[in-house]
Amino acid sequence: MRALAAFAATLLTAGVAAAQDGPSGQAMVQTCYVCHGPEGRSAEAVPALLRGQKEFVVRQMIEFKADRRPATIMNRIAKSYSDEQIAAIADYLAGLK
Ligand code: HEC
Repeated sequence: MRALAAFAATLLTAGVAAAQDGPSGQAMVQTCYVCHGPEGRSAEAVPALLRGQKEFVVRQMIEFKADRRPATIMNRIAKSYSDEQIAAIADYLAGLK
């Protein structure tokens, strides 16, 4: 868990940097791939991101942000992204085949 927390701190910084350039889903989603696998196709304990479509990812991220969905790490991660950035990431993921 300590490694996860340190990693989440890195992500918070990355989220802020990305916000200054306007949201690029392709750039921001790279941090998601670290845990969710390349293109979000995780075969590990972390759930894959492609099983639902855009609305699913957006809804889960909003739930995490509001602490309505219990999570080990995603609530902290989701809070570092604006709704606009979440939409950009979900858009990008939805475009992957
Ligand atoms: C530090 C590892 C890590 C990173 C980085 C990460 N996630 Fe997650 N994600 C998880 C874990 C673990 C879960 C399972 C819920 C929990 O325990 O937090 C999860 C769950 C999810 C879910 C719910 C999936 C489902 O099937 O219910 C979504 C959507 C999601 N993450 C999106 C993202 C997005 C978008 C990013 C990039 C902004 C991201 N995650 C970055 C670890 C991570």
